[in-house]
Amino acid sequence: MRHIYLDNAASTKVDENVLKSMLPYFTEKYGNASSQHFAGQEAKNALEKSRRIIAKSIKAHTHEIIFTSGGTESNNLVLKGLFFNNPERNHIITTKIEHDCVLNTCRWLETQGAKVTYLNVDKEGFVNPKDVEKAITDKTLIVSIIHANNEIGTIQNLEEIGKICKQKNVLFHTDACQSFTKVPINIKKQHLDLVTLNSHKIHGPKGVGALYIKDGIKITPLTHGGGHERNLRNGTENIPGVVGFAKSVEVANSKDVEKITELRDKLIKGLLKIPNVQLNGPEKRRLCNNVNVSFNNIEGESIGGYLENSGIYVSTGSACMSHSLEPSHVLKAIGLSPVQSNSSLRLSLSKYTTEEEINYVLQILPKIVEKLRRISPLK
Ligand SMILES: Cc1ncc(COP(=O)(O)O)c(C=O)c1O
Repeated sequence: MRHIYLDNAASTKVDENVLKSMLPYFTEKYGNASSQHFAGQEAKNALEKSRRIIAKSIKAHTHEIIFTSGGTESNNLVLKGLFFNNPERNHIITTKIEHDCVLNTCRWLETQGAKVTYLNVDKEGFVNPKDVEKAITDKTLIVSIIHANNEIGTIQNLEEIGKICKQKNVLFHTDACQSFTKVPINIKKQHLDLVTLNSHKIHGPKGVGALYIKDGIKITPLTHGGGHERNLRNGTENIPGVVGFAKSVEVANSKDVEKITELRDKLIKGLLKIPNVQLNGPEKRRLCNNVNVSFNNIEGESIGGYLENSGIYVSTGSACMSHSLEPSHVLKAIGLSPVQSNSSLRLSLSKYTTEEEINYVLQILPKIVEKLRRISPLK
């Protein structure tokens, strides 16, 4: 059976060139970057070259990037590391539509004395910069706002929010795991002090991420050890992973983004032709690979099951959360009822998605919806 993978917001296929770039670091150049001999220095050079590539891609200085095990770790390090380093400022501002690794870190920090403001968003998922401004107090340490939402694809106006944070003298962090290489990130233009990045959403390996920390910002490390990554992230560096991450950034390009956008729009247009289907998230300022729709009166889980039987893989909620049966917190925040939320599907594309695959989905999906509506008790 053919497979059509439309869950690229959860994870992506590793690019052939990325894989090729990584292989020598498993079998030939496997030294420890802390060793003084040639094999160690070879690894160290690869580490620093990768750091330069990641830094350049967001207009940062090379030494402002540290490597981590992914988006989750970077977000934990930012929020916990700043909180523990700043006893005099205990207020964190974030949104109701962050990834769970931000929300659950904030919830845990509340048990440690943090005060957290979870900002509302509008019905398309946008944060109002005025709400950010109003929420800032003299105790505010950091504003942390997701760049592009992983469920509904809303791209926030970082430039405007960043300007406010700068004027008010509070740190500004964004989780850019979904937007990296798809939407420009420029730490100067967007007034960013900290940025979370990861590799497996952009055709790089899993288990690798990075954190941009602007020069001069002090963070308490979460791990203690041999002083790796400026003593902020101790542990022997994952050289093959880091090399692959950098390669995935090098191979990303705007032509792919254009192609994915065209296919996304074709998919949205086709899905909206099915009666009683609603697009979740915005039409404009939407991530190029994100489609999220609700089908009235049927369970997203049932549609997902039928699609899987036809070899089509989609997500019925954020993949990282699909072990939970709770309706999505993101869809709730944009005003969907639990029933509407449970009737939604996310289809996320990549550079490997073809027009033929989209046509196939548009041929299969209306038939599944029609069949399920006929037997639905929810009418
Ligand atoms: C917006 C966002 N932040 C963070 C993460 C977590 O990243 P990782 O899987 O690298 O820990 C994800 C991935 O699901 C994500 O989509």
